[in-house]
Formats: sequence, structure tokens, C-alpha cells
Amino acid sequence: MRFHLTTFGCQMNVNDSQWLVRSLEARGWEESAEEQADLLVVNTCSVRDKPEQKVYSHLGRLRDYWLRNPDLFVAVGGCVAQQVGEAFWNRFPFVRLVFGPDGLAMVPGAVMRLFKEPDLRLSLLDFTERFPERETFLPEFGESPRAFVNITQGCDNFCSYCIVPLTRGRQRSRSSRSILEECRALISRGVLEITLLGQNVNSYGMDCGGTEPSFPELLTSIAALPGLKRLRFTTSHPKDLSDQTVEAFGRLENLCPQLHLPLQSGSNTVLQAMGRKYTMETYLEIVEHLRRVRPDIALSTDLIVGFPGETESDFDQTLDALQRIGFESSYSFMYSDRPGTRAACMHGKIPQEVKALRLQRLQSLQNELSQVHLRAQLGRLAQVLVEGPSKKQCASSADASTGGESMRGRDEAGRMVNFKAGVGFDSGKTLVFVRIVEAKKHSLWGIMEERP
Ligand code: SAH
Ligand code: SF4
Ligand code: F3S
Repeated sequence: MRFHLTTFGCQMNVNDSQWLVRSLEARGWEESAEEQADLLVVNTCSVRDKPEQKVYSHLGRLRDYWLRNPDLFVAVGGCVAQQVGEAFWNRFPFVRLVFGPDGLAMVPGAVMRLFKEPDLRLSLLDFTERFPERETFLPEFGESPRAFVNITQGCDNFCSYCIVPLTRGRQRSRSSRSILEECRALISRGVLEITLLGQNVNSYGMDCGGTEPSFPELLTSIAALPGLKRLRFTTSHPKDLSDQTVEAFGRLENLCPQLHLPLQSGSNTVLQAMGRKYTMETYLEIVEHLRRVRPDIALSTDLIVGFPGETESDFDQTLDALQRIGFESSYSFMYSDRPGTRAACMHGKIPQEVKALRLQRLQSLQNELSQVHLRAQLGRLAQVLVEGPSKKQCASSADASTGGESMRGRDEAGRMVNFKAGVGFDSGKTLVFVRIVEAKKHSLWGIMEERP
């Protein structure tokens, strides 16, 4: 029995897919190319219209495999599956399983049943009351030095443009006992870096009526686990980022100097219409506090251009904010109507060409700012967690002549670093020192050095 899985969307979907692969493999399934698969799984994203449309065109393509082999079937999961549900069956008859993010744990069992009963169709679309705990599959020792650990599912914020609370459900925090257990087990398998995952990790525990620790308390316990070299978390909502969490960046040595803090807009009028519940002033106070406790912190953000009613002057305020804060990097998107959200019914929709122009202006400013940050790294001795061989060719002829392997990894702040490892590099070595010698468009280039 062979399967092929395609993933769209955020890190949470990537993590869910990885779990599904491991869980199917544990039941005797083998991952294969699309052409050879008996089961095709698609894990989908609905955050904007474009990723949703991608799912339909992808399924249109999968139809051809089914026409050639009517015994194969398709399972659609994730956020579009939760949103569209059983309506998939009318449009795509070869889809025999639809599952939402909470239904994931039951997918392997459902797939086995569907194989035995060819006339059956199943849907797993109910939201669970508690965090949907699932069997843990640990990597082999030394398989990867990085891992992601879910700490919450869903979101309670209902930002006016966002479909996520409708597709992932309300926020449910995972018990701190399970989180710590998983982190300990990962570290025992050679994991050095853990990233905690959730739509809004800062509100961890707030749905538990005092039975679970607060987010900064949880961070403190995880950071203290022996052997953990690096701790990160994503995503944060500015309105829930407490002073204690900010101060953790100064207090916890292995908490990496990196924070993704979605701003969305630099205009208070737009922020209010988005239902973000903070102002530009409070956001700037957080940034100032973060830089006070951790001057080397790298800040990144998400931005939406062309929200309904956004004027030129609102947009200029976003550009100003970008410049004032000096984000290392940002993800920026054109506003997209999502079914069932408040913003979809708002007046003052912005024409596509205006949105496109604003996006282009914003992204070119961001590229300039990112370059300034990357160039500021020149000459620094960075500590890099090695992820594998680098496909990039070395930049200057100076280091080309030294020979040795090219590797890639990330520095403390999460910047991508490609580096020359020198002849006889010990491939079991995972944390290395690299002298930064060149800034590329989105990454750094360096040369490995011995411990200073
Ligand atoms: N929970 C996270 C991420 C949510 S989705 C957070 O709150 O930061 C990731 C990003 O997609 C959002 O930060 C937002 O910038 C963008 N996004 C969400 N809905 C959107 C929409 N309808 N149109 C355009 N961008 C959207
Ligand atoms: Fe969406 Fe807002 Fe929740 Fe993020 S915090 S997932 S943008 S509703
Ligand atoms: Fe997309 Fe769902 Fe993640 S909508 S961004 S896959 S939470």
C-alpha cells in the first residue's frame, strides 16, 4: 500500500502532515511518487483565496490518476476540508475522505477502513472539546536536530479578515505535562532546537481556568530541560505578549533572539477595523521593551495591504512603521475576502491593481531593510545549527579555493547561513561557528571556524 501526501499552508499543516506520514508508515504504508500511489492525501490551506484555488486545481490534476486507476482514492484534509466539508464529494467523486485539523488523529484508522470497504465515504469534521492529543512518533536518534511541538490548537481572536478560527476551531491548550514529555523525548533523540507552535502561543493556558501554567512559565520550564540548546516559538499576537514573556528573552539563555510579531497594518484606523485590539503606539512600546532586554533580537512580521477602506495615507503609515521598526523580514499579502468573516461584508473594497501596487511598494522597501540587516552581520562569528548540505555555490573565489563541503543552517536569530565547512567536516557535528563574509539577497555566506 503506497501513499503520496501534498501539503499546502503553514507550519502547523507541515507538522500535521509529518505526523500523518509517520503514522501511516507505522501501519505498513510506504510513501511513494504520485504516479505509484494507491492513496493520495492533500493537506490544504484556506487562509486566502489563492491557496484555496490551488487545492481545486491540484484535485483536478489528481482526477487523471483516478481515471487511469479507479481503485485509488483521495483524502482531503486541513483548513479547506474543514470549510467545504462533504461538498467536496459532489465536485470530486474520487474524494472518499475529508478531515479537518481536529480529525487528523483518526485518519490512519479511517484510511484502513476505506480500503476494506470500497463503497464507503467518511468525513471527520467534528471539533474536539480538548486539545486533540495524538500518538507520539519520535525521530530516530540524530535524524534531525530541529523539531516542532504543538502547544495550542485553534484561535479565539476572530480578526475580522481571518478564516482560521472557523477552520481550526476555538483555542484549546495542550496540557503542559504532554508538552514537556514530548520535548524531553525529542531531546533524548538528539534534538537541539525546539519551536513551539500555535496560532497565538502567547495566550497559552488562558482557556484552562488556571489549571495550566502561563506561556512565560511554560517557556521557563522548557528552557530548563537539560540538553536543549535552542528554543523558539510562533506565532505571537501583540495584544497577548506579556511583559513576562518579553523579559524571558533577557532571562532565558537558550531562548533565541528572534520574534515573529504580526503587525498587519501601521494605521490605527485599519488595526481597529481588523479587530486586532492594539494600537501602533502599544506595538512600538513592545518593540522598545524587547530591544531593551535583548538588543540583538531579530523581528519579523506579517502585513496585509488593501484591507477594506485602507486609504493611501493608511498605507503610508504601514510603510512608515516598517521603516521605524526596521523588521529583518516580513511576509506581506494582498487582502483577500474569506467566506464567513466580518471583513468580507465590509464596504470600501480596494481594487486589485491598487493592492498589487501597494504590495510591490511595500516589498521593495522590505528588501532594502532586509539588506541592511544582513549586511550588519558581516564579520560576525555566528553560531549555526547545521541542517544539511547546501545547494548554493560559494560566493567568492577566496573560499572556493579552500575546498571542502558547502553546508547550510540557521544562526541564533533564524537567518539562513550557507557556509564552507572545510575538508574532512564531521557530518555528525550540528552546532558550529561560522564567520560571516557575505550578505546575499535573503541569506548569508560564511566560513566555518573552530570554537573561539
Ligand atoms: N495566527 C497567526 C497567523 C495567521 S495566518 C497570526 O495571527 O499571526 C498568517 C497570516 O496570513 C496573517 O498574519 C495575515 O497576515 C495573513 N492573512 C490572514 N487572513 C488573510 C486574508 N483574508 N487576506 C490576506 N491575508 C490574510
Ligand atoms: Fe487569524 Fe487573528 Fe487568529 Fe491569527 S490571531 S489566526 S490572524 S484570527
Ligand atoms: Fe492555512 Fe489553516 Fe494554516 S488556513 S495558514 S493551513 S491554519
